[in-house]
Amino acid sequence: MIVSLMLTGVLCCALAETTLPDTSATVWTKVKGNVVRVFSPVRISSRYNQGCVGGTKCQFFLVCWMSGGSLGSSCGPLYTCCVTPSSQDIQPAFYGPVVNDPYCGRSSTRISRIVGGSDASFGQFPWQAFVQVGGSRCGGALVGPRHVVTAGHCVARSQHNPTSIRVTLGDYILHSDIESLPHEDFKVAEVRLHPNFRFTPQADRFDVAVLILDRNAHYQDNIKPICLPQKDASFLGRTSHVAGWGALQAGSKLRPKVLQHAAVPVIENAVCETWHRKRGINIRIHEEMMCAGYEFGGRDACQGDSGGPLMLNDYGVWYLIGIVSAGYSCAKQYQPGIYHRVSSSSDWISANVQSSLTKR
Ligand code: ARG
Repeated sequence: MIVSLMLTGVLCCALAETTLPDTSATVWTKVKGNVVRVFSPVRISSRYNQGCVGGTKCQFFLVCWMSGGSLGSSCGPLYTCCVTPSSQDIQPAFYGPVVNDPYCGRSSTRISRIVGGSDASFGQFPWQAFVQVGGSRCGGALVGPRHVVTAGHCVARSQHNPTSIRVTLGDYILHSDIESLPHEDFKVAEVRLHPNFRFTPQADRFDVAVLILDRNAHYQDNIKPICLPQKDASFLGRTSHVAGWGALQAGSKLRPKVLQHAAVPVIENAVCETWHRKRGINIRIHEEMMCAGYEFGGRDACQGDSGGPLMLNDYGVWYLIGIVSAGYSCAKQYQPGIYHRVSSSSDWISANVQSSLTKR
């Protein structure tokens, strides 16, 4: 994860807002969960930019489709009145109060280094989970005795086949046993995917799932749950921490063995959209998403970190405020990481934990 690079390799795709006449557009697409650039530029003539009604926009058909829209009537050769997805089909629901694990959010280690990406220390993020789905890896966060929160896109295809998912808790140096306390391996009994989860060519909507493990974890110094934030709590401007075993550079196939972490500030959705636009990426950061990172890049999550936690320390207690979801390349200028905003779904997560607690 984290890195200081000017490289690429991200995840999702974007689009160009192609109503801009005579503007070049870069088209990004998702390849194996990562966003990559496929072609540019696209020139659009203003002469076609008419005749679209009902809030639709005249766009090059591919750009419309890649941005998650559906094709409407034609407004020129290869151009369509693009029907963009609205939030109408997202059902609001109330899931009750957010109830936290009584032992949540306490790490026995203090943060020592937060400049750039660096090795975490053993037990620093005792809720960090390693989630393996088939051959690909994701992160996760323990929020209850047998409940791990991860990204929806990591497990959506295994929703009905949870036995293909393996979860490791308490790990630090992957595939080694030299740590002072052992890690524990779990199977998954059930995948609860957020009801509004949707794959899109851009960042996925409501990119969150709760994995119910096959048994309770034993809490110890390297295995503890993190707290959930209250519904709709805002962490704008706060410095948070992201952790994972994902790539150290965009596009790299190498993965670190030691858990990495980096400090990144939470930024406003509108600012995140504006920054991306400066790079020709027309992304919509929906309200259940948020961004964290720096104007000039340098520190970020990357491929393989998906599902992992974005965490905030509030007076010594750690909260899960985001879930690594998407990004255009990694650590690039004006392209901060995109996260699921946990305060938009903490009531749903909590309800799923409460409904599946087993007596200890
Ligand atoms: N979707 C990626 C994954 O599957 C996470 C990408 C995060 N990228 C970023 N630049 N923040 O691991």
